[in-house]
Amino acid sequence: MRKGVSIIIPTYNERENIGRLIPAIFSALSKASIKGEVIVVDDNSPDGTARIVSGLSKKFNVKLIVREKKAGLSSAVLEGIKNSSGEIIGVMDADFSHPPGKIPEFAKSLEHADIAIGSRFIGGGGIRGWSSLKMSRSAIASLLARGLTSVSDPMSGFFFFRREIISGASLRPKGYKIGLEIMVKGKHARVAEVPYVFHDRMRGKSKFNAKEAINYLVHITRLYVHKGKLVAWP
Ligand code: GDD
Ligand code: MN
Repeated sequence: MRKGVSIIIPTYNERENIGRLIPAIFSALSKASIKGEVIVVDDNSPDGTARIVSGLSKKFNVKLIVREKKAGLSSAVLEGIKNSSGEIIGVMDADFSHPPGKIPEFAKSLEHADIAIGSRFIGGGGIRGWSSLKMSRSAIASLLARGLTSVSDPMSGFFFFRREIISGASLRPKGYKIGLEIMVKGKHARVAEVPYVFHDRMRGKSKFNAKEAINYLVHITRLYVHKGKLVAWP
């Protein structure tokens, strides 16, 4: 029987964040007496992110996977899941936008749910530091996903789930929204939402760009086809 929580963190040029995030995650886990591992999937970041993770792996239960080149957030997360061993899997960003102190609440909600989605849009949640452009971009993206899921924050990149819900699912990672892919294709009956306040990163740069926006459009088109809500064209 599998036990514990595996936390997957995709990284690309997160040198300024990862060295503080990993100790913060283990401190949150140990305060709640949760056994866990962290799996960092780094795409050969030129800033030396992997070196920092490798140093921390001597002190903490951290596994480092380095891929040859930048190949996208979603596929990095799937690679991390393949190399993980926990009964519960969590996904979070490296830049402190997803507060590590919330991890025990996710673990707790999975005692009665199959998947727990971090939400910025329920009581107790929020967004700090985003421009109105980012807010409206995210609102439009969420609107486009409305026919796929009824959760309040379909764009969430902060979520935990029981490993068994993806067994047998044919996940096709594309772009950023691995959470949406799992929400749509995972076999889950019980969904929980965990409020959190998203803080825009203080250090390093976002990797979101126009190419990722196009990836998103292709991705949700595929998901609507998967759901039978759109007929695939030849
Ligand atoms: N390995 C790998 N490869 N990691 C990547 C890649 C990649 O190609 N692209 C991004 N990442 C990592 C970053 O280093 C970071 O840890 C995480 O993925 C999120 O990237 P950001 O660039 O910080 O994303 P964001 O802040 O614009 O968007 C985040 O928040 C949104 C709101 O919740 C993401 O989590 C979105 O999915 C989410 O919708
Ligand atoms: Mn970010």
